[in-house]
Amino acid sequence: MSENVLRPGHVAVVTGAASGIGAALAAAFGELGMRVVLADVEAEALERVASMLRAKSVDALALPTDVADAEAVDRLARTSVERFGRVDVLCNNAGVSTFNALADQTLADWRWVLDVNLWGVVHGIRSFMPILRAQGRPAHIVSTSSVAGLWSGVPFIGPYAVSKVGVVSLSETLRDELQAEGSEVRVSVLCPGSVTTNVMEAERNRPAALGSELRTPVAEQVRLMIRDGLSGPDGKSPEQVAAIVLEGIRRDRFWILTHATTRAALEARFAAILAAIPED
Ligand SMILES: NC(=O)c1ccc[n+]([C@@H]2O[C@H](COP(=O)([O-])OP(=O)(O)OC[C@H]3O[C@@H](n4cnc5c(N)ncnc54)[C@H](O)[C@@H]3O)[C@@H](O)[C@H]2O)c1
Repeated sequence: MSENVLRPGHVAVVTGAASGIGAALAAAFGELGMRVVLADVEAEALERVASMLRAKSVDALALPTDVADAEAVDRLARTSVERFGRVDVLCNNAGVSTFNALADQTLADWRWVLDVNLWGVVHGIRSFMPILRAQGRPAHIVSTSSVAGLWSGVPFIGPYAVSKVGVVSLSETLRDELQAEGSEVRVSVLCPGSVTTNVMEAERNRPAALGSELRTPVAEQVRLMIRDGLSGPDGKSPEQVAAIVLEGIRRDRFWILTHATTRAALEARFAAILAAIPED
């Protein structure tokens, strides 16, 4: 159990906190009386979320941060400690996606998605691990992957799936290394199914220098279909997901999954892998 990280006065840092799952996580930590550092590239939306938390007496600090920028994440870590003196929970949650068949994804598409989704988590671990280690007390890192990180092959969101598989892999490695060294820092990987957020409008945050996405009409149709699915019967609210994450931290669960519908595709994938193992 690592329940003791979720205490009043303790500090949670959440990236991608201006919207969706990140905003709901920040609010959920705040409701526990924790102090919260909110990081995001959308400075105005971020300040709005932080103000809403402050109106509920949460000690909330908004720090505009691009997780794709290693120095910016270093600054986020430094400022969090300067302001609050400690970090107990880190949620590497910011994420984006492009939509196109793999053959139509441009280098700019790949760079952007991997820079935010994979390098963003690498930067979070690189900047915060020294702080968590030096504290020498329980702490928890939750990195947001996706069911795409478990299913692995997902048409029309190839770079996204690659990035999310990467987040699963680096979370498993980090968990094993920290366990081996007897660290009190715990690790979880969050693999949500459909959640009603703005993730399908991720292009709003694409750096102008990368140009706009060149979606084929079919890819755009798929995007709209997935978007409708997020608010359909299988869609969960960000608040439901945040509650699942807090329970996962309390119970020290490495795998934090959110949807029963994750099972079938995962079973099919593993059955195919297991069936391919030779008898010798
Ligand atoms: N919504 C879903 O169905 C779903 C499913 C599985 C996984 N996820 C993952 O959940 C995480 C949160 O996404 P969401 O669904 O809440 O979407 P969202 O778009 O509502 O929120 C994502 C946040 O990340 C921020 N962001 C984008 N680029 C950034 C950058 N470079 N640096 C810092 N912040 C940046 C955005 O401004 C936004 O506030 C993402 O990693 C996403 O891949 C979402």
